[in-house]
Amino acid sequence: MVDDYNEKVKESMRQEERSVPFASDYRIVLETKDLKKQYMQGKVVVHALRGINMTVEKGELMSIRGPSGSGKSTLLNMIGALDRPTSGTIILEGQNIARMDKNQLAEVRQRIGFVFQYFNLIGRLSALENVQLPLSVRGMPGPERKAKAMEVLDLVGLSDRIKHKPSELSGGQQQRVSIARALTQEPSFLLMDEPTGNIDTKTRDSLLQLIKMVNHEKKITTIIITHDAAVAKITNRQVYIVDGLLYNTEDEAIQAEMNYKAIEGENGNGTERKMEAGLP
Ligand SMILES: Nc1ncnc2c1ncn2[C@@H]1O[C@H](COP(=O)(O)OP(=O)(O)OP(=O)(O)O)[C@@H](O)[C@H]1O
Ligand SMILES: [Mg+2]
Repeated sequence: MVDDYNEKVKESMRQEERSVPFASDYRIVLETKDLKKQYMQGKVVVHALRGINMTVEKGELMSIRGPSGSGKSTLLNMIGALDRPTSGTIILEGQNIARMDKNQLAEVRQRIGFVFQYFNLIGRLSALENVQLPLSVRGMPGPERKAKAMEVLDLVGLSDRIKHKPSELSGGQQQRVSIARALTQEPSFLLMDEPTGNIDTKTRDSLLQLIKMVNHEKKITTIIITHDAAVAKITNRQVYIVDGLLYNTEDEAIQAEMNYKAIEGENGNGTERKMEAGLP
């Protein structure tokens, strides 16, 4: 009985934690507060995120740049409900997702479309089947799901390639398929991790136009992680991560990177981490 009672108290505390009131401004759809993530590498603690505070408005198209190992993918994994932070809060459309259990996180992910550098398409399935997959998993009936998949494939300009398998498509086309797949569930957010990292410059530019168009037409809040200044340039807001901390201007980020390198040098750890995001 006492255990039952304790469980109930704990559950109500958990609920309270989850229902942190919506940010004061209703346009803010994502807010992180003092977000930290540590990993254990053997006996060493890696501080991947060291206190990220950021707010994102509905419909924004923003980019996050920073050197390799600075924490970009870790941040995306946290705000995309793929993993939980060590501490801090992540308020996604009014809910704190930082302490949710696996099932709750899976539900949150239904509202998020992911696009990764290596497309993550299933090789034996056609473009149409790949795009339908998230809808099949959700149990949507065949005809409805095909119609939805055709609609998004049309939006990304691939109506004439629906029967092609990934190996029969160019890199740019494969990435269009994965953007279409991310859009099938009409997500509130599109999270992209180096979406053009594996694509030549010319194809990149038309893909960027597509991302801009989708953001504009569908009003989907879009966050792109990139090393590439040309990618960041198409976004309306560019922020930077250096060594697990977020900076709102390039100057601040460059200064932080120089300080970081100086400390690394003092510690005799000469790891070269070039800030491709703008250092000369
Ligand atoms: N699962 C993990 N276990 C242990 N350490 C990890 C894990 N994932 C990431 N890290 C470490 O956390 C830090 C941040 O990694 P992260 O992948 O977020 O960097 P990134 O900015 O995305 O880098 P890149 O541009 O190379 O993709 C790195 O030092 C990395 O080694
Ligand atoms: Mg990464």
